[in-house]
Amino acid sequence: MTDRYVELVNTPLAARLAKALGLPRPSVLRRYTPGEALATRPVLVAGSGAGADALAEVILGWDVEVRRHVLPGEKLSAAVVVLDAADSPADLSAPLLELGQAVKLLVPGGRVVGISRAAEDTTDPARAAARQGIDGALRSVAHELRGGATANGIVLRGETTTTDPSTIGALRFLLSGKSAYVDGQFIEVRAVPEDSVSDVAAATAAEGIPDRPLAGRTAVVTGAARGIGAKIAEILARDGAHVIAVDVPAAGEQLAQVANRVAGTALQLDITDPDAGTRILEHVGQRYGTLDIVVHNAGITRDKLLANMDAARWDSVIAVNISSQLLMNEQFLASPVFSPTGRIIGLASTSGIAGNRGQSNYAASKAGVMGMVRAQAAAFDGGARTINAVAPGFIETDMTAKIPPLTRQVARRLSSLQQGGLPVDVAETIAFLASDAAAGVNGQVVRVCGQNLVGA
Ligand code: NAI
Repeated sequence: MTDRYVELVNTPLAARLAKALGLPRPSVLRRYTPGEALATRPVLVAGSGAGADALAEVILGWDVEVRRHVLPGEKLSAAVVVLDAADSPADLSAPLLELGQAVKLLVPGGRVVGISRAAEDTTDPARAAARQGIDGALRSVAHELRGGATANGIVLRGETTTTDPSTIGALRFLLSGKSAYVDGQFIEVRAVPEDSVSDVAAATAAEGIPDRPLAGRTAVVTGAARGIGAKIAEILARDGAHVIAVDVPAAGEQLAQVANRVAGTALQLDITDPDAGTRILEHVGQRYGTLDIVVHNAGITRDKLLANMDAARWDSVIAVNISSQLLMNEQFLASPVFSPTGRIIGLASTSGIAGNRGQSNYAASKAGVMGMVRAQAAAFDGGARTINAVAPGFIETDMTAKIPPLTRQVARRLSSLQQGGLPVDVAETIAFLASDAAAGVNGQVVRVCGQNLVGA
């Protein structure tokens, strides 16, 4: 499940050969390591206006050098372009042309982050055109970047400011190595209600425990015996959570190994069992008292063209991938064990966005996850709970290792980062959505797909 081509093409001789032959040259991505510096070179904060000034002040406070304009020849770790005050498309010219100078100076693994407002939040056509224009421009920049650099956007909803904790939380995630395979995406943020930060997190912050944003939280991860689920369990545990690893009895041995590795507990059950949610609540209630985080990761594929589809294939995929999530969420939301600051994260897929030949059942289930989180988010609106989805693209797992070799090579190279993602990339995004830093992110679908060209 490793992509040997990425390793090979990053040796000097092979790099020269690949360049001469016009072959893809994917970079080794900058991924998070505990204690990493957010930026080792200056960060450009482009854009004029109070929002840009205030944000530059905040970033300065992180012990990072900040520039308000590009200095010729000076390398940059990141460029943050603040466009929250854009009133017409003409306002985009100066800051985006400055960004154009900055991208040439980005270090490998550099970051571009745009900060703008939602086009839906205005009825003024020129302002809406400017805001929507930022979307198109940043997605294009993401396609143009090389060297493992990414470009993403933060969209401020309502009156949210550039320095609101939810804006800062999303910005720190996008600047860090945790977002290595998130590219060409927009995360909407809202100002955070005061009670969205749990007592545990407040106490942890007060004690100054860094890098453990989920300390004291209890997290359930379904489908945790292997693949992406096992990695999610590991990353949530690294961040301080007690993990309850859930999987079918047939995967019991692997499940026990994962639970031991993360010092959590194993719970064998089939999530399509109507009592699954109740059993999870009993398990968590008895051992920990509160359920803080649920990651609905378990999923299956039963691919067939719709013309050849049988009921067993269709129904099993719907049952595991979406109906189980709906029923379990109902059971969690009706229970006092589910925390008032609880987080639910569902696994969707880019197949549910773009569709995929042979996957009408799977795409229906994964698009269903997105529909579910958007509807539930509206019910959570104004409270401290959130529900979001992560839509992985091509991730290097047992599932994608089964794709025929040539198709697999093509699928890997079809993203702006020219490679598949790793389970850790999905896990880091989920850990972010589970943390207080994402308290202002609700009802979102964050793609972890390296800006896959299919359905981008
Ligand atoms: P995987 O097949 O390696 O692991 C899935 C796990 O879910 C297995 O341990 C399996 O035993 C468990 N599971 C299946 N049915 C279950 C049930 N009824 N009750 C309890 N557990 C059950 O899958 P992978 O690749 O790790 O994917 C994880 C999630 O990410 C899935 O929802 C998948 O659809 C999604 N995804 C994966 C992508 C990839 O490239 N691998 C791309 C997009 C989405």
